[in-house]
Amino acid sequence: MKKELRKAVIAGNWKMNKTPSEAKALIEEMKPLVADAKCDVVLCVPFIDIPAAVEAAKGSNIKIGAENIHFKASGAYTGEVSADMLKEAGVEYVVIGHSERRTYFGETDQTVNLRTLAALNAGFKAIVCVGETLEQRELGYTETLLKYQTKMALTNVTAEQLKNVIIAYEPVWAIGTGVTATADQADEGNGFVRAAIAESYGADVAETVTVQYGGSMNAKNADELVSKVNVDGGLIGGASLKAEDFSIIVKAASK
Ligand code: 13P
Repeated sequence: MKKELRKAVIAGNWKMNKTPSEAKALIEEMKPLVADAKCDVVLCVPFIDIPAAVEAAKGSNIKIGAENIHFKASGAYTGEVSADMLKEAGVEYVVIGHSERRTYFGETDQTVNLRTLAALNAGFKAIVCVGETLEQRELGYTETLLKYQTKMALTNVTAEQLKNVIIAYEPVWAIGTGVTATADQADEGNGFVRAAIAESYGADVAETVTVQYGGSMNAKNADELVSKVNVDGGLIGGASLKAEDFSIIVKAASK
């Protein structure tokens, strides 16, 4: 395992939190706290917050991401946002296939794949989320499920495009619950994702792909989680809404 071959990425996923003015204030607060990060720092924010966030992050090491992207270039898709719109707004990253999208908004492995391809074709970095439910874990399907979701999401993604892919392993039972996977469970889950990538693209390529952990990662447990060989940073929900907590996680990934 060659952790040094890939860059750790700490990305906040704000979900449906913060208005544009609140986004600006939070980013202003975060900027000095994460300025000396040795990992990549990303904040994925609600669509409506993107202009304010891009403006506030200008000149800093914070990159701005969206929380979704549609796979069509334009058309009659009420409520959706296209790659061109995000590009013009200054977005660099896009979260795709979050379990909340899969659970509440009918996202499937097929649409996750289409959105991933749309994001990569437009030149974004895609943060693609995979993860098992508690029931799937208890039935013993974690490895099968993670490999399937990973391969489905990456269907028709070229090895060249894979350089812009980050996979976030987010066990559904650990999201927003305060129940974090143990560091060993996170490492194992991320390892299954990497093994799936190795099966499709070869082991050497798989070693270069950033695989994050997400699910109740916080200022207290980040150190142990990111020290694991397969854990290349994190996708952070609740703790990314607090400047100090988020900066502590960034520092943990900067060691
Ligand atoms: P929490 O950190 O709030 O558990 O959320 C994790 C997550 O879903 C990030 O995408």
